Amino acid sequence: MEKIVSLCKRRGFIFPSSEIYGGFSSCYDYGPLGVEMKNNIKKLWWDEMTKKHENIVGLDSAILMSPKVWEASGHLTAGFADVLVECKKCHKRFKADELKGKKCPECGGNLTEPRRFNLMMRTFVGPVEDEASITYLRAETCQGIYMNFENVLNSMRMKIPFGICQIGKAFRNEITPRDFLYRMREFEQMEMQWFCHPKDADRFFDFWLKERLKWLESIGLKKENLKYVEVPEKERAHYARRQVDIEYKFPFGWKEIEGVHNRGDWDLSNHSKHSKKDLRYFDDQTKEKYFPFIIETSIGVDRLFFALLCDAYQEIKGGRTKTTKPTKEFEVLLKLDKRIAPVKVAILPLVKNKKELVEKAKEVYQILKSNFFCQYDEVGSIGRRYRRQDEIGTPYCVTIDFDTLKDNTVTIRDRDTMEQERVKIEELLKILKEKLEYV
Ligand code: GAP
Repeated sequence: MEKIVSLCKRRGFIFPSSEIYGGFSSCYDYGPLGVEMKNNIKKLWWDEMTKKHENIVGLDSAILMSPKVWEASGHLTAGFADVLVECKKCHKRFKADELKGKKCPECGGNLTEPRRFNLMMRTFVGPVEDEASITYLRAETCQGIYMNFENVLNSMRMKIPFGICQIGKAFRNEITPRDFLYRMREFEQMEMQWFCHPKDADRFFDFWLKERLKWLESIGLKKENLKYVEVPEKERAHYARRQVDIEYKFPFGWKEIEGVHNRGDWDLSNHSKHSKKDLRYFDDQTKEKYFPFIIETSIGVDRLFFALLCDAYQEIKGGRTKTTKPTKEFEVLLKLDKRIAPVKVAILPLVKNKKELVEKAKEVYQILKSNFFCQYDEVGSIGRRYRRQDEIGTPYCVTIDFDTLKDNTVTIRDRDTMEQERVKIEELLKILKEKLEYV
């Protein structure tokens, strides 16, 4: 895992937050390549939900909401808390269920009895910092969806079953953040809430579970690194009647990346009770009025980003070139799905000290750069530049060489096969669009 963390920093994927001040625990910034890759992931998920599936619409609700939302949802009470013990000597806190012995693992001190610590992040809204101005940063994006259930239903004339999806930041005061992007205090979620008749909830639960697994495999996660785990009643989230965690085999073990939950009528009925607004659905055909059940699919963008990096990361002993003797200890190849890779095409003049080659390469760069996220690179030997692109997962390298000057052709090198094909510059954009599956 250290190698992936180091690659992320070195190549501009992820930086520690507030680094010049010594960092800020469990918060990370996405660098130039990281933000491209993250946006690619979010776009694929958004398209999957809103274009592939019928009857799902999007939303972007506010992070700050009335604190009443969190009272009604059960997040302010014991339901949304970690059970922790504290060392009486060094005052460090640990999750009670993760401790092996009865002493502090850091200093050997005695521990307190387990206590529950709420995970909501508090803040104040307005000029006065008193009890009345307290609110919370949202701990899950879906509450914004429930707040808008009626608005979407009416404005979009939706009929059950239908879904609302949203991507956005969520915040949790995790007491034991760890494992890089795995457990953060500020993270992003991609959530879809499927509203259905209670009698159809079990069927839709199975449907969405299968769909989500299929999607995770379709974007490049290896089948053998994914599994799902039925969560027993006593370990389920406070709102869940049924919960299945989709787990990924991280370098530090099998861990949840996505949750599929049957939330029943927990949210809509509680919000109805607290707001005194009837959020039941009226079926104008059957004349039935009822609280729809909600099947939720919820995945963390950051966890998925991390899983995709772990899955794609390969070290090739001695390097991949077969034409020369292996000289290196190993070469890194990031075999990301083309749609996820941050840089799509690298444009490389064969050498940088030949003016005509450099000029031609810059011309090619200009043709491509408004279509794909490209990198122009002229520094170092061509072999080294290919390695640099392999390390960040760039699917194609376009090389401008001496033949280019004679016949206006360039080579396209494929990251995975390392094979090169020669094409005319005038056809380059069309060919790359086809290869990259751009529509
Ligand atoms: N609305 C349901 C919900 O929030 P969850 O299982 O608590 O359910 C869903 O969270 C997903 O959000 C998780 O599967 C994970 O991918 C992501 N997630 C949760 N807490 C996280 C954290 N502290 N850091 C990074 N991702 C997190």
